[in-house]
Amino acid sequence: MSAPVSVTVRAAAKINLHLGVGAVRDDGFHPLATVYQAIGLYEDVTATRADTWSIHTIADAGIDPDGVPDDETNIAIRAGRALAEHHGLTGHAAHLEVHKGIPVAGGLAGGSADAAAALVALDRLWGLETSDDDLLAIAADLGSDVPFALLGGTAIGTGRGELVEPLENNADLWWLVVPSDIGLSTPQVYRKYDDLAPADAAGDAHPAELVAALASGDAGAVIGALRNDLTAPAYALRHDLAARVGELTGLLGSGIRVLLSGSGPTQLVPYADLERARLAAARLTEAGIAHWLAPAPVAGVHVVHYD
Ligand code: C5P
Repeated sequence: MSAPVSVTVRAAAKINLHLGVGAVRDDGFHPLATVYQAIGLYEDVTATRADTWSIHTIADAGIDPDGVPDDETNIAIRAGRALAEHHGLTGHAAHLEVHKGIPVAGGLAGGSADAAAALVALDRLWGLETSDDDLLAIAADLGSDVPFALLGGTAIGTGRGELVEPLENNADLWWLVVPSDIGLSTPQVYRKYDDLAPADAAGDAHPAELVAALASGDAGAVIGALRNDLTAPAYALRHDLAARVGELTGLLGSGIRVLLSGSGPTQLVPYADLERARLAAARLTEAGIAHWLAPAPVAGVHVVHYD
């Protein structure tokens, strides 16, 4: 096959089925024990041969791309530069077209998905054949969530979240994804976590109960074991999110679980059964509450088009 002119790669949003946060490290990061899951909301990144770096972002309906940098500070271009540098390439550049299907600053790692997709798109465009281990290492330098965006599926994350290992998962779930109009800053939520120092935090202990529930395929047990240590700090910063738990429970029934996605502000309601998930989605539509219905787990980065 002749060298491609452009390559499109898709990467999924992530949620944390478990986000256990330990005491802040000397480098300012927090040690984590987290269970990541890739859900069916996607970013597509198209890399096209070019002499200089440039990037353009478009977004699906309901997603505001304002605030996404359109210059070299964008994480997708930083990913491309890191890949070129890893291979000692100078003068390599590309135009990146990002099609966003993941809310911005939502706690769903949309930027990390862009970085992971850009790494793989440029690896293919330039014919580099970078090893998986090297891609994971480059990804880890770009952000704590970027290695998981390469992997997808369901995985355990340790370190600051960048050390990922796939987990056995036999429980499929449907997630109602309820975005917020206003983003939430991840560093701010972690700082609030430090201020609150919640005594009931799971910390970075291994989430054995959830890991066993995933392997057994008992979706109800998975839902019962969901946990996020950033809930209290995020809700302390954003009282509207705490209020929305009550609103969602009022609409969907007291049996639901409302999980904060990562550092928020997106909130998630899991269903083991698609019909019940569809009914719940219809109730949110009637109430005028924006949402998506996403399957999980889904695959990590994959090529969707070569030109
Ligand atoms: O690694 P990433 O760029 O996603 O991290 C963004 C910010 O989130 C960090 O600068 C830090 O403030 C916070 N963070 C943290 N501990 C982690 C991951 C992120 O404190 N394990």
